[in-house]
Amino acid sequence: MGTKKRRKLIAGNWKMNKTPSQTKVFVEELNRRLEGVRGCDTVICVPFVDIPAAVRTAKARCITVGAQNMHHEPSGAYTGEISSQMLQDLGVKYVIVGHSERRRDFGETDVIVNKKLRAALGGNMIPILCVGESIEQRERGVTEELICLQIKEALSGVEARQVRRIVIAYEPIWAIGTGMTATVEDAREVCALIRAQIRRVFGAAAARSVRILYGGSMNAKNAKGLLACPDIDGGLIGGASLSADEFITIIEEAVQAGGDDEKPVPVE
Ligand code: 13P
Repeated sequence: MGTKKRRKLIAGNWKMNKTPSQTKVFVEELNRRLEGVRGCDTVICVPFVDIPAAVRTAKARCITVGAQNMHHEPSGAYTGEISSQMLQDLGVKYVIVGHSERRRDFGETDVIVNKKLRAALGGNMIPILCVGESIEQRERGVTEELICLQIKEALSGVEARQVRRIVIAYEPIWAIGTGMTATVEDAREVCALIRAQIRRVFGAAAARSVRILYGGSMNAKNAKGLLACPDIDGGLIGGASLSADEFITIIEEAVQAGGDDEKPVPVE
C-alpha cells in the first residue's frame, strides 16, 4: 500500500451573499493572508455573477473558484440556467451539486442531482456532492439508509475511475445555518459510512482516494476537532466562509491537521 495522502480541502459556500465588488475586496484579503499556505486546497464557491471577479482576483496558489450549481445540459432553452461549459470558460474548477437548499427550495431530486454530477464530470469539473439527513430522519434512525441511497442514486452510471475526482460533503440538514454542529463522533461515523459505501460500490482504490467533507455550522472554534478525524478530509463552510478571519482560521486548522494516508478502508 502506498503512502499517498488525501489533501485536506476547505470549501466556502457563500450562498447568496456578496456582490462582485465585495468579492474583489474579500479575495484580495485572502491572497494577502494565504500567500504562503501549502498543504490544503481552498475553494470559494461564489454566486455566478461573482465568478469573474473571484477568478480575476484569486492569486494565492491554494485558492480555486467554484460554483454553487449548474444545469446538466450543455446548452439550450433553459431560461436563467448556466452550463458547465460556461463555468469552465470562466475558469471554474469545482461545482456544488445537490445542496440540501436546492433539493428543498428548488425541487432537485436524486435523478437531477445525478444528471448534474455526470455533466460536471463530463465537463472536467470536480463536483462537490452534498448528502445529509433531516432531523426527523435522524430521529427515526434512517440516517444510514438515506445517505447510502443518496450516494447510490447520485453516483449511478459513474465509473470507479471517476469517483476519485468527486468530493462528497456530508451536511446534516439540521446543522446547516443553525449553529448546531454534529458531534465529532456523529460526523466521523457518517463520513466513515460514506467511505464504506463507496468501497462497496466502487472498490477499495476509489474509497481510499475520495475526499469526504463535513458541513454544517463549522467554524473557527469547532473546526480543529472535526478536521482531526481520519475520515473527514475537510469542510464545506457556509456562514463562517463569509468572514476572512473565520475562514482563514479554519484553513490554518486544516493545514495543522494535515492529510490522511490513503489507508485501506475496512470491509464490513
Ligand atoms: P453553515 O456553515 O452556514 O451551517 O452552512 C453549511 C452549508 O450549507 C455549506 O454548504
